Amino acid sequence: MDNLVILKLGGSVITHKERSPPEINRKSIIRICEELLISDTPLILVLGGGAHGHQPAKKYGFANLSTPRKKRLDGIPEIRYSMNLLASAIQAALSEHQVPCIIIPPIAITKLRNGYIETIYLSSFRSALKAGITVITHGDVCFDAELGAAILSGDALSVHLARELGAKSVLLGTDVDGVLDDNPNRNPDAKLIPTIKASEDNPVLNVTGPSKSIDVTGGMKRKLKELFTLADDNTEIIIFNLNAPGRLRRILLGEPTIGTRIVT
Ligand code: IPE
Repeated sequence: MDNLVILKLGGSVITHKERSPPEINRKSIIRICEELLISDTPLILVLGGGAHGHQPAKKYGFANLSTPRKKRLDGIPEIRYSMNLLASAIQAALSEHQVPCIIIPPIAITKLRNGYIETIYLSSFRSALKAGITVITHGDVCFDAELGAAILSGDALSVHLARELGAKSVLLGTDVDGVLDDNPNRNPDAKLIPTIKASEDNPVLNVTGPSKSIDVTGGMKRKLKELFTLADDNTEIIIFNLNAPGRLRRILLGEPTIGTRIVT
């Protein structure tokens, strides 16, 4: 699909990641939906788990590969319930603006093996987009052929969808300006890197540590590694600050803004 945009809404932006029990960041969600309105291209929104995903995932041991199968399987209902609440909040906000949208939950269409995607059945994505319906999907807990259950991150899902459906743009909205040249928690002078070449031996992979709040799926380094596999001359890949009002809108309009672009 030529003009498909895949937009990941980072969990730390759409939820209050440090609050327990999880809370939805409604103010942020309303603003993001308003910024989205200028786009008339086919759109997939991929929600990060934020508080709704990472808190129950941690509780059931998903951060640790050695967690027994039974405990992982026991975690499925609670994580699913929590992610449903988050996805419904996004659908409600879009529906306020008469944006036709549906939620496609990955658990229903995904097979994982050792935490990696084996298959995702995408025909309903294709049909919905063709019908002019925006698709909301999200990081999720999914059945896993080896582990019983594992977490599919929103980043890995975005990259897979982009590759399989042929996206024009993959936009990852986070709570930082993009990729920084040092860990901002240690070095307040860390600077934004505007462009990164996608290469496995790029030294930038050594400075990007995991994010500061609970994150069972690996932070910025894993994000970059996944995006590197997607880089080609035809796909626009941008990591940007979704907390900064107006940046999403500018990117969708094709205007220059602060962020990190991944190039070949
Ligand atoms: C995690 O998705 C999904 C679950 C834990 C269920 P992500 O890893 O993409 O979420 P964020 O953006 O880091 O919160």
